[in-house]
Amino acid sequence: MTNTPPNFRPRFCSVVAVAFVALGLAIVPAAAQEKEQPTLNASDIADGMRLYQQKGNCQACHGWAGDGHKTDSQMPDGANLRETKLNRAGLVTVIKCGRLNSQMPAFDKFAYSDGRCYGKKQADLRAYPTRMPDPPATLQQREIELIADFLVAKVVGKGPMDHAKCVEFWGSETDACKDFPK
Ligand code: HEC
Repeated sequence: MTNTPPNFRPRFCSVVAVAFVALGLAIVPAAAQEKEQPTLNASDIADGMRLYQQKGNCQACHGWAGDGHKTDSQMPDGANLRETKLNRAGLVTVIKCGRLNSQMPAFDKFAYSDGRCYGKKQADLRAYPTRMPDPPATLQQREIELIADFLVAKVVGKGPMDHAKCVEFWGSETDACKDFPK
């Protein structure tokens, strides 16, 4: 009984190999899906666009097109989001936490209450000469992510706004597009 069957090892190895392949097949699609953000669809993007324009009022400082042509002349000059180098995660962080020593507000209600943002608390913010203004409204994590998805889909890296992009952006020939010659 001490004799190992000649084909024991190879068979054992192939069983292990099959197990690894099966495991790999199970893991790979999940990882790929993660990257492609499976929840991203037209209605999420439309929700993000609405939150950007209305509840977050991002356009007051950044412009409806995100190009820095703000819709409210009394507001601070927001960055040109069409040219930002931030990825989705970076966008989420800046929207949640604002930007220290600038006029970009923090939209997470608890941004500076528990150190979740840049490890800072309310008291630490006094050290900065420029205070972040209060946000027009605070946003839930889910709302922040919808705005980030909208920005990635329709704003970031899309180049300067022009007539064709304006029609695509709004889904029709709206008044806003008259500012851009055909
Ligand atoms: C009160 C004006 C104001 C409002 C409202 C505002 N922002 Fe900003 N935002 C700014 C300013 C000013 C900056 C530039 C900060 C700096 O100096 O780096 C900025 C920077 C940013 C940046 C970083 C860009 C980069 O490339 O570094 C992002 C992203 C951003 N804002 C997104 C948003 C979104 C999304 C909203 C709405 C949820 C919003 N902002 C609302 C003023 C505003």
